[in-house]
Amino acid sequence: MHSDLHVSPDIYRKNFPNFGRPKIVGFMSLDSERNYHADTRQLMFARDIEDKSVIFDLNLHMDKVKRRPPNLNERITHLLQFLSDQEKRLNYSNNNIDSAKFFCYRGLLTCVACTPYENREPWRIVATLFKGNIYLCARDTQDKIDRLRNMTERDKMFTSWGYKFEQFVLSDDPDSQPNPNCGVDESEEFSLVFETNLNRHTIVYGAEMDGIRCDRGSVTAPPSTELGPDAIIEYLSNKHFIELKTNRHIEFPNQDNNFRRFKTKKWWCQSFLAGVDTIVAGFRNDEGIVEQLKLYPVKDIAKMSQRFWQPNVCMNFLETFLTYVKRCLAKEVSNKFGKKALNNLQNLPLISLHFEWSPRTPVRVTDAYCYEDDPILPQWFVDRYQK
Ligand code: A3P
Ligand code: MG
Ligand code: MG
Repeated sequence: MHSDLHVSPDIYRKNFPNFGRPKIVGFMSLDSERNYHADTRQLMFARDIEDKSVIFDLNLHMDKVKRRPPNLNERITHLLQFLSDQEKRLNYSNNNIDSAKFFCYRGLLTCVACTPYENREPWRIVATLFKGNIYLCARDTQDKIDRLRNMTERDKMFTSWGYKFEQFVLSDDPDSQPNPNCGVDESEEFSLVFETNLNRHTIVYGAEMDGIRCDRGSVTAPPSTELGPDAIIEYLSNKHFIELKTNRHIEFPNQDNNFRRFKTKKWWCQSFLAGVDTIVAGFRNDEGIVEQLKLYPVKDIAKMSQRFWQPNVCMNFLETFLTYVKRCLAKEVSNKFGKKALNNLQNLPLISLHFEWSPRTPVRVTDAYCYEDDPILPQWFVDRYQK
């Protein structure tokens, strides 16, 4: 019933689409129990970042790490809590399919944008049209469920190394040093919520942010929560955030090729979408000791990898995917409720479509998903807007 969407990079090798600088519209913190807080309690600061030799033992206090439970299945709940909490201030009410906004996480945008170059990991995405806006949520594929189930202790340790690196570089106050002498809590996070335009689409998305860099001008602590979100947003909007990444030392040409072909593409998309202009890479040995810090301007990351992937292909594909999602939802609406309903979305019931992609195939709309069994919008969220 719906046409397929082709993903070959050749189709998307055209001018870079219009992409506005992401504007911060809000923030949130998740605590140790993954509870939502409308404050900056998890905001972190990076003080001494420069190219230098270091000795960061990522195994330190590995026995005290608090891992994020693997079966949380949080869907987009925290973003919905944010939207509902900030509803009055943001006012995203809409009635017309052309101006429907997309709500999702940055991870989903990165995953979609990398699709033209992906040859391993399939994905599934549910798109739900509700009260005039479109909610996108990634669902685990069977591949991923199997991979998570089969993770060895060593795989889990690799994941924990990435978080431990953050603990060596970030402190919770701009005036204090990082403290790596305790176990990492992998559940805690600080996120910004951005709004931007990609050609004709408006996207509102949450993105977990590693920290504010303190080496560009003096950085003070954020305003207190009592001053309200606008003061905090102004504070956050005037800061430079950095992205931290770990990578094994690059010694051989094939490692360098893999780095440029696979890693840099994800690093670039993730950082670019959040307006981050610098990545701090910690290069480690096989024993988990980071020995070298290296700063990469995000712009250079794309240039050094242009033999393997191009940012315009990623962003043009993302733009085309959003157009495709909107078109498929519009077709559902007009088939079920008539063309007039496209300008009267407030009165429609919730409508969902399931998009599937696996390597060497086009993106397809499939019926291998039942909304009632796996609802993307929790009942409390639906009830709130269906008054
Ligand atoms: P590395 O990217 O250095 O390996 P992020 O870089 O997005 O801020 O995430 C911080 C760390 O969380 C990662 O550090 C990695 O250890 C872990 N992590 C994030 N996403 C992951 C994923 N999809 N699979 C495994 N680990 C992940
Ligand atoms: Mg992060
Ligand atoms: Mg990081």
